[in-house]
This record gives sequence, structure tokens and C-alpha cells, in this order.
Amino acid sequence: MSLDTLTLRRPDDWHCHLRDGAMLRTVLPYTARQFARAIVMPNLAPPVATLEAVRAYRQRILEALPPDMDFQPLMTIYLTDQTDPDELQRGHAEGLLTAAKLYPANATTNSQFGVTEVRLIHAVLERMERIGMPLLVHGEATDPQIDIFDRERVFLDRVLDPLLKSFPALKVVLEHITTEEAAQYVTSRAGRMAATITPHHLMINRNAIFSGGIRPHMYCLPIAKREKHRQAIRRAAVSGSPCFFLGTDSAPHPARTKEAECGCAGIFNAPDALECYAQVFEEEGALDKLESFVSVHGPQFYGLPVNEAAITLRRGRRAVESRIAVDGDEILPFRGGEELGWSVVPFQQCMARER
Ligand code: NCD
Ligand code: ZN
Repeated sequence: MSLDTLTLRRPDDWHCHLRDGAMLRTVLPYTARQFARAIVMPNLAPPVATLEAVRAYRQRILEALPPDMDFQPLMTIYLTDQTDPDELQRGHAEGLLTAAKLYPANATTNSQFGVTEVRLIHAVLERMERIGMPLLVHGEATDPQIDIFDRERVFLDRVLDPLLKSFPALKVVLEHITTEEAAQYVTSRAGRMAATITPHHLMINRNAIFSGGIRPHMYCLPIAKREKHRQAIRRAAVSGSPCFFLGTDSAPHPARTKEAECGCAGIFNAPDALECYAQVFEEEGALDKLESFVSVHGPQFYGLPVNEAAITLRRGRRAVESRIAVDGDEILPFRGGEELGWSVVPFQQCMARER
């Protein structure tokens, strides 16, 4: 590997929002150009909460995929108070479902049909524990009295701790961690727990949301925290610990819905996700740890094979697109208009050079 190119095992995205319809067709190629697989979040409106809905959504994703792209969606089901353990088990047994997603009701975008109380899904969790199906958790307490910057930390004590104790063999991924406490929590439960880390939480702290004015495109949930937390999750990401792996939480919204009186949460980072991770690992002097974070720890935790294909990043400045048209509106990508230090070499060019 020369200093100016990085060739890695092809990565996967273990947390991604692909949406539906025109938005799906617009954003999917950005994900598929980098990632061989992605864990697809089920928070559509209405939520993807039955096997029938999961099957149909998977089909729509495959139909939206450009024919020359090699990409596999890994499907999740949205847990509700009514989820049927038998249905979940059937979906898992037939390979349709990779995992199930727990949104505490009203924690984030399209989570109003989420779980109101964990005790209502005890039978479901017990079944998942038995069949070895991972539970993916949006880890924020939903009590509106709790300060928004404390919601992840409070969730660990109030909700996650009792859940883990009740189901000691259940495998849990704490999604998009943002705090030092979450990183420590996961590390101390290595083996049964893992966490995804987004590019934006590695790159921005909460000042970015208020820099010179209010910045709706920097607003996501969990919300970015203080600098000491950003530093802590950067240390976790580059630590080499198998508990931590890539999950972009790429969450596109039309600009009109973010730049609004009550703008929605979500950062769209798919166009330059891998480049952002490479930049962070380089800044931390840890490029040698990049491949395990982006391509190995995820499949290891999920018990899936690692990808055999490779992807190459080339050093060199690349300007990130600043606006992407979609359905009469546009999406503003994370770092849009800025220059990043690495760029993914398009697949055909990699092949041509190897020949
Ligand atoms: C996500 C979305 O828009 O679907 N938003 C976000 O801020 N991350 C939902 C989520 O993952 O919380
Ligand atoms: Zn998400």
C-alpha cells in the first residue's frame, strides 16, 4: 500500500436510512458505490413492522439499485408494542431479517409507533435471545424533562441496564453512540454488545449546530455533544476494539423539511462517508486501524462473512457535492462544498488498474 492510496476490504454500513420512492432512487447509489451491504433502517412512514412490509421494501430497494452496482440490503424490522415473536423468528429463519430495531416511542424521526415500554416486548426479546438475533437500539431516553444532551446517558441506566440484565445472552448494538459514557458502557460489555459510530459524530461537536447562526443541516439525533465526547468516541473508533464499527446513520431529508419552523433530525452523509472516516483515522494517526473498523468488526459481530472485494481510496482533494436534486427539492450533504483529503476510486477504475 503506497502512501497515496489505501486499498481496503470493501466496507459495509451497519446503520443507514435509504427511504423510499424518489428519495430512495436518489440516495441509494451513493451508499452502494462504497458499501457492499447496509443495515437498512425500518423507520419509513408507515413503519416497516411486518414481514410482508419488509419483503416489499427489500424488493423496492433492489429495483432502485442501478444494474451495474453490487449491493445487498440487510433488512430490519421495526419493533412495536404488538410485534409477534413467531413472525420475527420466521423472518430470521428465512434470512429476510438480519436484526430488529428498537425505537423508544417518540425518540426520533418516525418513531411514534415505537415501543412505549420495554416490558411490552419481553416475549420478543426472549425469542431474539434464543435464536441469536441482534437487537439494534436507538439509545435515548424519551422523557421530555430530560435535557436533550443527557438523553443517551440516562437511557443507559434507566432502560438499557435492566434490559441487558433480563436477557443476558441477547446481542445488542447501541446505534450511533455520541458520549464517553456510551463508549465505556459498550467496552465493558464486549462480546454481547457493540456500537456503531457515525462520521458526523466523529467530526463535529455541538458548536457546529450553532456556528454563526442555527444550522439545521447539522441537527441529528442523538444530537452532537461537547468536544470531550467527540474525543472519546474518536478514541473508541480508532482503538482497534471489535466493539466499534462503521454505521453512517445517513439520514436524508428534503431541505425544505429541515429548514423549517420545526426542522427534522438527520444528516445525509452517504456521498462522502468513507472519505470522512479515512480523514478521521488519518488525523488520529490510525490509518492502520481503518480497515478493521469499516470492514471487519461489523460482520464479525453479526456473524456474517467479511467481503472479499476491495475498495481503493486515493489521496487528493475532492469537493463534496453541495446540493443534490430530489423530487422538486434538494438534499444538502454533510461537508457539502468542502474538500476532503481522500476520494474513493470508482469501481471500474480500480478494476482497470488491476488488469
Ligand atoms: C434519523 C432519520 O431521519 O430517520 N434521524 C437522525 O437524526 N439520525 C433517525 C435516527 O436514526 O434517529
Ligand atoms: Zn438512524
